[in-house]
Amino acid sequence: CGIVGIVGLQPVSERLVDALKRLEYRGYDSAGVATITEGALHRRRAEGKLVNLEKRLKDEPLSGTIGIGHTRWATHGASTERNAHPHFTDGVAVVHNGIIENFAELKDELTAAGAKFQTDTDTEVVSHLLARHRREGMTRQEAMRAMLKRVKGAYALAILFEDDPSTIMAARNGPPLAIGHGDSEMFLGSDAIALAPFTNEITYLIDGDWAVISNTGAHIFDFDGDPVERARQTSIAAAYLVNKGNHRHFMEKEIYEQPDVIAQALGHYINIIDNHADTVSSIDFARIPSLAISACGTAYLAGSIGKHWFERYARLPVEIDVASEFRYREIPLSPQSAALFISQSGETADTLASLRYCKELGLKIGAVVNAGESTIAREADAVFPILAGPEIGVASTKAFTCQLAVLAALAIGAARARGTVTEDEVQALVRSLAEMPRIMGQVLNSIQPEIELLSRELSKFHNVLYLGRGTSVPLAMEGALKLKEISYIHAEGYAAGELKHGPIALVDENMPVIVIAPHDRFFDKTVSNMQEVAARGGRIILITDETGAAASKLDTMHTIVLPAVDEIIAPMIFSLPIQLLAYHTALFMGTDVDQPRNLAKSVTVE
Ligand code: G6P
Repeated sequence: CGIVGIVGLQPVSERLVDALKRLEYRGYDSAGVATITEGALHRRRAEGKLVNLEKRLKDEPLSGTIGIGHTRWATHGASTERNAHPHFTDGVAVVHNGIIENFAELKDELTAAGAKFQTDTDTEVVSHLLARHRREGMTRQEAMRAMLKRVKGAYALAILFEDDPSTIMAARNGPPLAIGHGDSEMFLGSDAIALAPFTNEITYLIDGDWAVISNTGAHIFDFDGDPVERARQTSIAAAYLVNKGNHRHFMEKEIYEQPDVIAQALGHYINIIDNHADTVSSIDFARIPSLAISACGTAYLAGSIGKHWFERYARLPVEIDVASEFRYREIPLSPQSAALFISQSGETADTLASLRYCKELGLKIGAVVNAGESTIAREADAVFPILAGPEIGVASTKAFTCQLAVLAALAIGAARARGTVTEDEVQALVRSLAEMPRIMGQVLNSIQPEIELLSRELSKFHNVLYLGRGTSVPLAMEGALKLKEISYIHAEGYAAGELKHGPIALVDENMPVIVIAPHDRFFDKTVSNMQEVAARGGRIILITDETGAAASKLDTMHTIVLPAVDEIIAPMIFSLPIQLLAYHTALFMGTDVDQPRNLAKSVTVE
């Protein structure tokens, strides 16, 4: 979810919605705003995306110079207007990002004392607790403190009290929250980008903080209620205000930006490798006995490809898992090891929790992130920016290939530091990386027409299987993830060798099998697996390179032929047809490509 607040001298409701638009990547199940006018709280809420709230506000405008707003990614309670934030209880208004984990117990207690709940959300216990404390005679600040002592879990909160039309209260424990300093106005938002048109002067709250914000400034307190100072910084978020240019969707724009952003990222890292500055970071790759990698979604799949490189080139054992499992598995990790966390947003709750877990165990922490001002970036010992620029499409594309480029460069740097490759090999690998932007441009310029034709066919099926070997296994999974995320066609990615152990039972003419097979050391084995599919009447879509196309004599439904490239850059080059295939199939399905149903770009709950 995304939250926002403005306290000032000018009307706020339009600006609240404007800021919420920049937070819509955090969820778009429902939205709402509340203001105080003429001594009373008022709100407008609407199910679905922000356009619905905008329409509502057009019909029923909301005045007021103080207000809070919310765009929701539903956790507890369906995405109906009734469950949309802000929640009102007896003169208290609350918007919340996170999960109040002990809400059931609190709800029972409050209900027993006579409270009447109006929603199915976990959040509503917050407004009820505050209202109860006020009735008991507490001041607003006392009520805040008492409420914060009762709630457990993760929260970023913005609160209005009807009897104080000049103050917004805020609290953070987990999800990010930034206070923006304006001219006779103050702002609050889930990130600095939401506030970028208003101000670039930002103070980030840290976990346990709560704040009292008026139009002239903010007073910040720690969990015990003692006043604390938090640094004010100038944010560069304004540079992140972007539009689609000539593209139909952000996703399309981001796919076509890849040659440029990869060039930028590589420029940065190849420089580091060339200067032998392998230890620019505080992670000493030469000495660590192993590396742990943890991430979610597409970032996890990038890490899974990175594992191949660290193990193969740097002979560095890698432990990898999705972050939601990693932190609970009780993996025997050595404090001499390092841990790498990969996250586009730098705010994903599970990834952040894994980072803190490893930090506690004494491991050195590296972060491969896109958002340089994010919590994960701030808490890491070494930050490896992916320099992809803002990624707006919910389905990750350029962040994925930039994460791969950075992981490849780090693996090469680690290999050199550990003496597991010769200087000639380092130079050859770096040369391959440097070739990548040019080849990506060439592929993007040529494959669109055939991908469109193929996507029309693909959109007629209900199930698709993706297969690969080596680094093409995580890529097969990424291909399946992309397709299911935005076209809603069921898809699975598998190691080609596992085909015979289960998925082959599903193969018939109704389930196309997309095989990702550059002409690498596994190619012949993968061809055998394709034979197994063909023998059972399965339809094959082969994505290979010129050498592979010449070598395989198979009858396919379609073969996409890419230039033959060095093994280390194949995953990035082969990502392009996979992304475009998902994109164009989604266009044929008529789905909302940039904001697919039920998903969010940044997930700050466990
Ligand atoms: C969400 C997004 C994915 C992303 C994942 C991890 O599920 O929809 O695109 O891969 O979160 O996000 P992160 O910001 O940590 O990379």
